[in-house]
Amino acid sequence: MLIRMICPTCKKASPDPAVYRCPDCGEPFELEFEARFPIEKIRQRKANLWRYREAIPIEADKDIVSFEEGFTPLLKFDIKGYPIWVKQDHLFPSGSYKDRGASVLISYVRSMGIKSVVEDSSGNAGCSIAMYASAAGIECEVFVPQVTSPAKMEQARMLGARIRKIPGSRQETAQAVLEEANHAYYASHVYNPYFMQGTKTLAYEIVEQMDWKAPDRLILPVGNGTLLLGVYNGFKDLLRAEIIAEIPKLIGIQTESCNPLASAWEQKSVKPISVVLQPTVAEGIAIAQPVHGERILKVVKETGGYLLSVTEESILRNWREMAKKGFFMELTSATAFAGIERVLENEADAKGRTVSLITGHGLKSVGHF
Ligand SMILES: Cc1ncc(COP(=O)(O)O)c(C=O)c1O
Ligand SMILES: [Zn+2]
Repeated sequence: MLIRMICPTCKKASPDPAVYRCPDCGEPFELEFEARFPIEKIRQRKANLWRYREAIPIEADKDIVSFEEGFTPLLKFDIKGYPIWVKQDHLFPSGSYKDRGASVLISYVRSMGIKSVVEDSSGNAGCSIAMYASAAGIECEVFVPQVTSPAKMEQARMLGARIRKIPGSRQETAQAVLEEANHAYYASHVYNPYFMQGTKTLAYEIVEQMDWKAPDRLILPVGNGTLLLGVYNGFKDLLRAEIIAEIPKLIGIQTESCNPLASAWEQKSVKPISVVLQPTVAEGIAIAQPVHGERILKVVKETGGYLLSVTEESILRNWREMAKKGFFMELTSATAFAGIERVLENEADAKGRTVSLITGHGLKSVGHF
């Protein structure tokens, strides 16, 4: 596998495998390598995300840290009379889709022989990184905003991580960890390109589960966009390999309480709009300054999709309704379902095959019931 880390702005290659950000312009590096899909072999492999082995840039199998995660069920059901396919990513080992990224990122960390990592998170990514680090015998410290759900903090602690609570916003937590990143490797789910090499497997699984065909649109909650951009990369890989003919429309949903990207979309701005974070039940996407904001706006436009905001009331209502239908998700995840409701209001947007996902498990929201 020829794998290169390249700065998307000045096109320079990374000077060192452990450097995740361009020393000249500060942009997070992107990974370049050719993902391959030997479909007959893939079909015979175990039902987990590592079945796409030739598309995941980890050189040696011995470095893989895995709990056989992934290949979650894709269930079809009706919302307001329309068929919607929903990936069950709340069924991952740590209870959220972040395990996709953490499995690949911590495998990469292990391949470099690193023994200690720091990470900052609103909760779920911290739990995931803690779980994989523990399996790999890597020490882990997770920085979280003081206001993070107690369930997530306890989960990460139980999984062996040291927890550092930072007063103030998610942004202040990110600042605090950057100061610490001089002492330990920063296993960032936001900056480190290997994390998105894991989240991209969501696109592979959807296409395989739909008989190697792309759906028409994908409806996703968006905060930092590690899910949306990962999925875009995944579809791009499938397009290059000529498995699909077109990337589905990517439709990103934010809460009205924190919508720098949806506001930018509405105002036709190519940069995120600065917003003041209001209290929200969707803590996982309460990101006022998304690092990859410009890229998210560009990618959504390229696919013919769009971004929109939903109210806190509609998130809570959809959360309760979905739980009663047997889909017990965390509040952040219900943002996507509040979004589906809005998307389906438009007849043209309701046609074809629409896919969404449940990003996190309901038990993560203990304390909000
Ligand atoms: C449950 C849940 N859903 C969705 C997201 C959104 O992910 P991203 O920040 O990558 O857009 C997060 C991020 O923490 C999350 O915890
Ligand atoms: Zn650069």
